[in-house]
Order: sequence, then C-alpha cells, then structure tokens
Amino acid sequence: MAAALRTFGRREILKGALAAPLYALLSGTVAKGSQESGEKGMRDLPLRYFGSAARAEWLGENRKLREAVLKDCSCVTPEIGMNWAAIQPTRDTLEFGSLDALAVFARKHGLAMHGHTLIWDQTIPAWAQADMSKGDADWSLVGRYLAAAVSRYPSVPQWNVVNEPIDTEHPDGLKRSAVYDAFGPEYIGMALDEVRRHAPKAKLIINEYSLEYANPVDKARRNRLVRLLEGLLSEGRPLDGLGMQAHLDLGKGPMDQKAISAFLREVVGMGLDIYVTELDVKERDFRPSRAARDRLVADEARRFLDVALAEPAVKGVVTWGMSDDGSWLVPDEADLRASGVAPGARTLNRGLPYDRDMRPKPMYSAIRDALAEVRAA
Ligand code: G3I
Repeated sequence: MAAALRTFGRREILKGALAAPLYALLSGTVAKGSQESGEKGMRDLPLRYFGSAARAEWLGENRKLREAVLKDCSCVTPEIGMNWAAIQPTRDTLEFGSLDALAVFARKHGLAMHGHTLIWDQTIPAWAQADMSKGDADWSLVGRYLAAAVSRYPSVPQWNVVNEPIDTEHPDGLKRSAVYDAFGPEYIGMALDEVRRHAPKAKLIINEYSLEYANPVDKARRNRLVRLLEGLLSEGRPLDGLGMQAHLDLGKGPMDQKAISAFLREVVGMGLDIYVTELDVKERDFRPSRAARDRLVADEARRFLDVALAEPAVKGVVTWGMSDDGSWLVPDEADLRASGVAPGARTLNRGLPYDRDMRPKPMYSAIRDALAEVRAA
C-alpha cells in the first residue's frame, strides 16, 4: 500500500492536454441566462446546488445546451471524460484533453467541476486489468493514476472515489472487479487514503445506485451500503459523504419513501454528507401521450426529491444530463414492443429536465420547485 508512486513526466501530461482541440471550441463567449423563456434558472439557489453531467464536446457543439447549463447549473460532472480507461488508455499515456476543456469551461463560467469517477469496475483499462490479474499486484499502479488525475484538478470540491462497490449477489456484498480481486475489500479504504493525500480539502465520497425502491434487492443494497460506510469510518478512512445516484425507474414499483428517509438518517448519523449525483428517470410504458409520460416522470422525480431534500445533509442535486437527446437511458426493446411502438421508430426516454430541442419539461419544474421550496434547517 505504501509503495512509492512514480510521477508522470511533463511530456506525458502535455501530450494529454494538447490532444484535443476543445479549448478552441469552448473559448467563445456565452451570455449567462440567455434562454428565450426569460425564466430564472436553477443556478445560485441559496440552500442546495443544482448541476448536471456534461461532456465538453457537446457543450462546444450545442449552443442551447450550453446556455441551459449556464442558466441552471452551479456545477458539472464529467459524464465520461474522467474514467480511468479514458484518462490512461495505455500504461504510459495520459489523455486529459476533454477533461481539461470541461475544467476550463467550468472555471471560466464560475461552475464547480465534480470528480467522477476514479475507481469503477466498468472503466478499468484493459492493460491495468491484465496487470492486476497476474498476482502479487502492486498498488502503485492504481496510486499512480489516482495521483495524476486528482492532483491535476486541485479545485474539484468533491471526488467520487469508488463508484458502485455494492453487489449483494456476493456473500460479502461487494462487487468483484480487477481491483477487488487484486487487493481484496481493502481496496476501497486504500483508494480513499490515496485520494486524500492528493486532495487534502475535497469531500471524498462513495457513489451507489438502486437504493430507492420497495423491493428486496434495493433493501439489501441499502443495508450493505450502511455497513460498508460504517466499516470505513471505523477504520478511520477519510470518507466525507455518500453519493446517491438516483437512477429512478418507473418499472420498479413503488418508491419506498420511508425506507429512503430512514436510510438517509442512518447515513447522516454517521456524520456524512449526502449528494444526489445522477438523477434521471427510466420510462417503461410508452403508450400514454407525451404529456402524460412527462407527468409520470416529473412526479417520480418529485417524490424522490421531496424525501431526499427534507434531509438537510443532502447538499445538492445533479441530473445525469440535461436533455433527453444524449441520455444514457434508451428504451428497452421489450418495453417498446409491449407499448406497441413500431420497430425502428426512434423513441427517446424522456427522463431528463429538457427535451431533445432543449425545451424545459415538467421534470424541470419538479426539480426547480423541490429545490426552491427547501427551507433553511
Ligand atoms: O465514444 C465511443 C465510440 O467511439 C464507440 O464507437 C462506441 C462503441 O461502443 O463507444 C463510445 O463510447 C461510449 C461512451 O459512453 C460515449 O458515448 C462507451 O462505449 C459507453 O460505455 C459510455 O457509456 C457511459 C458509461 O457511463 C460508461 O462510461 C455512459 O455514457 C455514461 O452515461 C455512464 O454513466 C454512468 C455513471 O458513470 C455511473 N453510474 C451509472 C451511469 C450510467 O451507466
């Protein structure tokens, strides 16, 4: 664990920084709050923040998207740019082009950039997985990457250090991955320690999904997560908060508001902050009118936010994108079939605040109202 870190050379860093022409794309002046509606956005809310996942390329290309981000967001989370595989595609290559562009955009417009995501089983580069699987793995392989990524962005206020560590299918409730297999369950605490060395003041968080519904799986996940957080704190690991992804799903049955509330209380009781990090809503039934679908989505978001924001330790809400066009959520084929949608028709999941033409939908108002109605503790 205490293995010496080899620092990256200057040339390696510069190669990454200069790789993408995104600085140019993002260097234009953009008026703040210039949406046609003239409505006040969600930026600068007094008690909680609002933000969105973002990609520098899309902000550069899409003026309406950029304007919405500037009107509504006080922070952005890199949607895909800050994955280990994207940053370090080979052992000796560092690619920060897209991420640097987002950081420049954020700094220029006074937005925070959140750190997402450092260790996630789905984004460990192939070369690192191969190396770790050889046995007798050296932590410096992970430490070197964490040091490079974290120290490059000293103004990031919160780092998602370990993403999605829970898997209740396994006896110990932790997801198997190359990092788990190489270092055991200790990898989570080791990663927190490592990141703290390079980010002395940032909030360090564990980020998790499927915690909201009244079913045995979500219940088991909440319970296991509470035990994980307690364990890390009892070991003295530098953990500051929990990220609740909040990928809501209209096919998962009733939301368990009571259980969410009790879960949040338990987490707060440990002295941790809570952040809603990836809010969106998956649709299942495409038969109703668009207006009716939008209502269902907005109501589900509001149900969640009402219970989450009632807890003062929930510091803010980030949606996993602004517009349905570009959402990672795409309708399941089976749901489309069951809804009688013709095969091949392009149907978007309408689970984000803006539609594909960047018109705000009822979900936008639901989030704005929920945030605006928060009272001071
Ligand atoms: O850019 C390449 C393209 O060149 C290639 O042709 C194509 C072929 O698959 O892949 C493209 O990359 C994809 C990338 O998104 C850009 O669209 C990756 O395959 C795809 O895996 C990647 O998915 C992202 C995923 O994280 C993994 O990084 C999603 O957009 C992103 O929304 C998703 O976000 C995650 C959070 O980080 C963690 N929580 C769950 C959430 C949803 O999965």
